[in-house]
Amino acid sequence: MKNILVTGGAGFIGSNFVHYVLQTRDDIQRLVNYDLLTYAGNLENLKDIEKDPRYTFARGDIRDRKAVKELFNEYDFDTVVHFAAESHVDRSITEPEVFLTTNVMGTQTLLDAAKDHWKLAPEDKYSREYKPGVRYLQVSTDEVYGALGKTGMFTETMPLAPNSPYSASKAGADMVVRAYGSTYGLPVNITRCSNNYGPCQFPEKLIPLMIHNALGDKALPVYGDGMQIRDWLHVKDHCAAICAVLDRGRVGEVYNIGGNNEKANLDIVRLILSALDKPESLIAHVADRPGHDRRYAIDNGKITSELGWKPEYTFEQGMTETIQWYLDHPAWVEHVTSGAYRNYYKRMYGS
Ligand code: NAD
Ligand code: DAU
Repeated sequence: MKNILVTGGAGFIGSNFVHYVLQTRDDIQRLVNYDLLTYAGNLENLKDIEKDPRYTFARGDIRDRKAVKELFNEYDFDTVVHFAAESHVDRSITEPEVFLTTNVMGTQTLLDAAKDHWKLAPEDKYSREYKPGVRYLQVSTDEVYGALGKTGMFTETMPLAPNSPYSASKAGADMVVRAYGSTYGLPVNITRCSNNYGPCQFPEKLIPLMIHNALGDKALPVYGDGMQIRDWLHVKDHCAAICAVLDRGRVGEVYNIGGNNEKANLDIVRLILSALDKPESLIAHVADRPGHDRRYAIDNGKITSELGWKPEYTFEQGMTETIQWYLDHPAWVEHVTSGAYRNYYKRMYGS
């Protein structure tokens, strides 16, 4: 891993991954963060590393074939870690189209660029020879498996059964990645992780939204009965898992990544209120999300036994640190919620 393309590196997980890689690895010569800076992309997440000589930011759209091809020609990547996506389920319910174009077509654009740049005989449709050491990693989600009942866990061999436009678009992308591996022999991996939490998460997702509202003494909107279960993973554990797959993952394999932390939404909301010394009367049960998946739980067996990765954070430690991060960064929260950070982009990059 010398020249790495990280798409969506200004988002929540992508920006944590950029930090993680630059802090923990000495094999990186160039890390290019390619990001469109949608509402979810925030260069403030990367301010402390923007002068690192190994780091380059390039603003652009993963659906822009010409720009993506030029990027490969300019930087000669050997590794692609593809985070860029529309990522919020609620938004996918009201505006599904952009989820399909970004998450499916954007993925195909990247795969084509990687294939064309890495293939030793690009004109030969039967050739499966690629430059040595190259790897494309698709960051997917456990939501592609659909919903679980009270028991059971997601394993890598389960059929995909997505329920939201978001998860359908991620499942579609996974199928295209799989096809590029099977048909063209492109060296790919797919990782499917559970709900991430940690610093720099946009306050539209459960944990940062509830922290933000609790701090402002606003109602905490809990969908339905609040007994839906998610399997929470600290974002730094996720970054370490991705590196384990890049370093040791078998080509073509799918790896599930989970935190062994099943929690009901209501329990998380209560934990946040208690940590901030706020009353439970702030909880407001609101209409349920259409098609709401009841329970997710990841079976970690494959990645732990094959690659030796395991989550390091306990949920208690991770939540204490995360809540503290939001308390310590009121300006970050103020910028992303007021839209002021968009002015920063305009100043930096034009409209
Ligand atoms: P995010 O919404 O915080 O960030 C997405 C980033 O992608 C933003 O920086 C945005 O500007 C960029 N982007 C969006 N459209 C783009 C386009 N057309 N071209 C270039 N860049 C574009 O997302 P996140 O929560 O950090 O998730 C990152 C990835 O991880 C996604 O693929 C998501 O599906 C997956 N994932 C997330 C979670 C989670 O809990 N957050 C869990 C499992 C998987
Ligand atoms: O499982 C991985 C997925 O986790 C990722 O692929 C997605 O990108 C990510 O957004 C996340 O999806 P969820 O829908 O699980 O996350 P969200 O934070 O939106 O919601 C978590 C749970 O909390 C879910 O059951 C819905 C509920 N919820 C959410 C919000 C925003 C509420 O009850 N109230 C809310 O206001």
